Formats: sequence, structure tokens, C-alpha cells
Amino acid sequence: MMRVLSIASECAPLVKTGGLADVVGALPAALAGQGVQMRTLLPGYPAVLSALKDATPAADFEDLFGGPARLLSGRAAGLDLLAIDAPHLFAREGNPYLGPDGNDWPDNPERFAALSWVGAQIAARGAAGWRPQIVHGHDWQAGFVTEYLRRMDARDVRSVLTIHNIAFTGPADPVRLHALRLDPARFHSEGFEFWGGISALKAGLMGADRLTTVSPTYASELMTPEFGMGLDGVIRHRRDALTGILNGIDEVVWNPATDPAIVPFTTASGKAANKAALRAEMGLPDSDGPLCVIVSRMTHQKGLDLVLQALPALLDGGGQLAVLGSGSPELQTAFRNAAQDPRVAVRIGYDEAFSHRLIAGGDAILVPSRFEPCGLTQLYGLRYGTVPLVALTGGLADTVINASPAALARGVATGIQFWPVTADTLRLSLTRLCALYKDGETWSRLQANAMVQPVGWDQSAKAYAALYAELTTTE
Ligand code: ADP
Ligand code: GLC
Repeated sequence: MMRVLSIASECAPLVKTGGLADVVGALPAALAGQGVQMRTLLPGYPAVLSALKDATPAADFEDLFGGPARLLSGRAAGLDLLAIDAPHLFAREGNPYLGPDGNDWPDNPERFAALSWVGAQIAARGAAGWRPQIVHGHDWQAGFVTEYLRRMDARDVRSVLTIHNIAFTGPADPVRLHALRLDPARFHSEGFEFWGGISALKAGLMGADRLTTVSPTYASELMTPEFGMGLDGVIRHRRDALTGILNGIDEVVWNPATDPAIVPFTTASGKAANKAALRAEMGLPDSDGPLCVIVSRMTHQKGLDLVLQALPALLDGGGQLAVLGSGSPELQTAFRNAAQDPRVAVRIGYDEAFSHRLIAGGDAILVPSRFEPCGLTQLYGLRYGTVPLVALTGGLADTVINASPAALARGVATGIQFWPVTADTLRLSLTRLCALYKDGETWSRLQANAMVQPVGWDQSAKAYAALYAELTTTE
């Protein structure tokens, strides 16, 4: 068995703000079938510590970035976990990154430096009788692992960093160099210096043996100034180390035949009962048009402002919209205002069970993101016969087959893609969606194709296992 330590700041079902948690939570089971034994290192947030069963202490730290801490080893939610019990850093309820004022915790650099430090310690010295051959970090929160491995002189451990979203660079002021236990000699452009500051993500991008991101298209996009967010030069510099491996979905949690949150179904005709229930729940009237749904964080990335601008095209085509999301106060207010129209229903908040009812009951799911490293909700849509209408970017480009005339003629289309990502092009594609919906036969074909498209982990788990194998045998 290949031993891999996964290091992340969130993990479903214990603590989740987005798709990162889904992926971190799904990887160990997906990889178990590939001969990989993965343990997951998490910050000991209250939700993590209370879920840990039979936890045993695996290490003690007298001073972990400002206070005493212990490493606990145990199982929770079917996962082999290592959790950092460090009350001064992690004993905070709610969102893992934000304080009650909605701003980042001021000590986030230290909090996730601690995560990376402990990860490096486990890799360098082992913990609970186990030492990984590979550390696999996720996003900037695991960025300093390779810097610390250097300091600990653990040269036999290989490292992988996965970029789930390059927009978050993990910045810190250089005055914190010592507090973050970084080597001042590496504060330069070949190290972790980024525009005069410290960047945890850049540290990982420069230091990891291999880089991955969550779709092949995002891997190419990252090399461009438009998507690289200032790190495109670094990505180009490391292009030989980078691969794009698509995310899968948890096919147990997202299975329309067994989903406890919905009226189960195996063919698209079974969606009707869910659609009726969703309309009743949201107070939407009956209509012949398509019911479109959105489940999303409300941020600039997700392009939801474009939906508000293009909405008349959907409503004029006889369509309706049901939305679940939370995030920017401006977008929340704008969607609440849009819901004054009886054909639009909006729920602000975060609700797993309701997200299942929306995806089961919708005819189509809208994902008009300006950038999208992979995206999971379009994959849920495919699995549930809820036709995805998506921007042609990142993982959305890689997972949906656009209903072009050629794809329709060959009977292979699974959704609709639009590009460039503007309100005008979205308007056109909403009009097109309404027309396709009215053509019952074509629509049924789209749904049937969508439902059989592979969206699980099989292929990607093999790709990760192959990457690990290559790293441990050739270097
Ligand atoms: P991102 O990670 O950028 O937010 P993804 O599409 O990869 O985008 O993953 C989002 C995940 O979060 C999905 O599992 C989605 O169902 C879930 N999600 C987003 N917003 C909500 C919400 N308001 N309620 C419930 N689940 C949500
Ligand atoms: C990030 C991206 C999203 C991706 C998820 C999991 O949150 O925004 O596109 O699906 O990570 O990799």
C-alpha cells in the first residue's frame, strides 16, 4: 500500500464551505481501491474534534504558533483522521476562515502555517506508528509544507499540491517571516515571495514535486494572465510538473435512486414528482416551461450577477428560477429582490438536504461562472438528469457536451455551454434552453445522455494513483 497524507483545511461531511471539502472527503475512499492508504490531516475545529471517535494522542507540541497543542489520531465519518487540537488556533465555531464580522481571522497565516507545520512533522518523523511516503496538500492552507520539509531535512518524502482555486494565494506580511517559521533566505522570487509579500500558495507552487489542478482546462487556463491571478508566470515555470485531474462526485451521497432527501428515481420521468414537490415548497406556480435551479456560493467567481441581468430571457421563454445560495450581501439582496417576481424563488442560506431537492426537482441547473476550476454542481446535475447550462471555462468545459448542432445530430449532447461569459451570451443561451425544452424529444435525449455520463471517481482515482506511483519510483 502506498501511504499518503492528505492535508486540508476542510473535509466533508465534518466541515465544508465548498467543493474542496467534498473532494478531500471523497479521495480516501476513491483511492483505497487503487492501493493507496490515505490519512487526512485537519485543523481541530470544534466540529472535527467532537466527531473524532476513540481518538488517541499521537504527538505533543509545546508551542505550536503561540500555544500548546496535541495531535490526535482517530476515525470519523469513515475517514482515518489526524487532527490538531490547538485551542488557541482552532477552537472557534462557524466558518473555518472567517470571524463573526465576516472578515478573515487576522491570524489565518499562523493557523494554516500550523497545519502545514504539523503535516511536515508527520511526514518527517511519522505519527501514531505511521509515516507517509507522499504529502498531498490542498490549496494555500497547505502551501508551506514543502518549506518546512526543507527545514526538517526530510528529503525522502515526495510532495503534491493540488490547486482548487488560485484566487486564494494565502498572503502574509513579511514582518511575519519569523512568526511563520519561514527561512528568510527563501524570501525571494524563486521561493515564497510574491509581489513583495509572503504567499503560502506560491511556496507550494514552487516547492512541491508535482502540482495538480482539478480539470485539464483549468490547468491550461492557469498559464494565462486572465486566469492565473498573477501566478501565471509561476505556473508556466512549473508547467512540466502540472497535470489536470478532474474531480468526481460522491456517488453514494449523490445517487437519485437511493437519495433519502428526494422521491427516488432512475429515469428522467421520475423527476416529475420532485419538480412538483419543489414548486410546492418554493411557492412557484405550475407552468409548461423549464424550472432552472442554482446551488452556489454567491461570489463574483460564480457569475450570478449575469443571471439577474439575463433573467428576463428565461422568464419570457416560460421558465422559472429557484435559487439556494449565500455569500456577498449585495448578491443576496439582489436575488431577494428578484424573487418579487412570482416565477422566481430564492432561499438564502446553506442547506445540504435542500440542495438535493433542488437538483432533483430542477429541469436545468445554471452554472455561469467567470472561472471554475472544476465545479461539482454541474456533475450532480448530470447525474440527476438536470441539464447543465454552463460557462465554457475550466471544469465546466471538460464535463459538459454542448448541444451544438453536430452533437445533437450525433445524439451525444448533455447540456449547454456559452462563451464568452457575458449577460448577452447568457441571455441567448437561456432562450435556447427554453426552445430545447419545448422540443420534448431532444430534451429527453439530453437528460438520458446526462444521466449515463460517468461522473464518479474511477478514472481520476487511477490518475492520482499513477501520479503517486511515478513520484515514488522515479525520483
Ligand atoms: P465551489 O467549491 O467553488 O463553491 P463547487 O461546485 O466545486 O464550487 O462545490 C460547491 C459545493 O458546495 C457543492 O457540493 C454544492 O452543492 C455545495 N453548496 C454550495 N452552496 C450551497 C448551499 N447554499 N447550500 C448547500 N450546498 C451548497
Ligand atoms: C474550488 C473550485 C471548484 C472546485 C472545488 C473542488 O472550490 O472553485 O471549481 O470544484 O474547488 O476542487
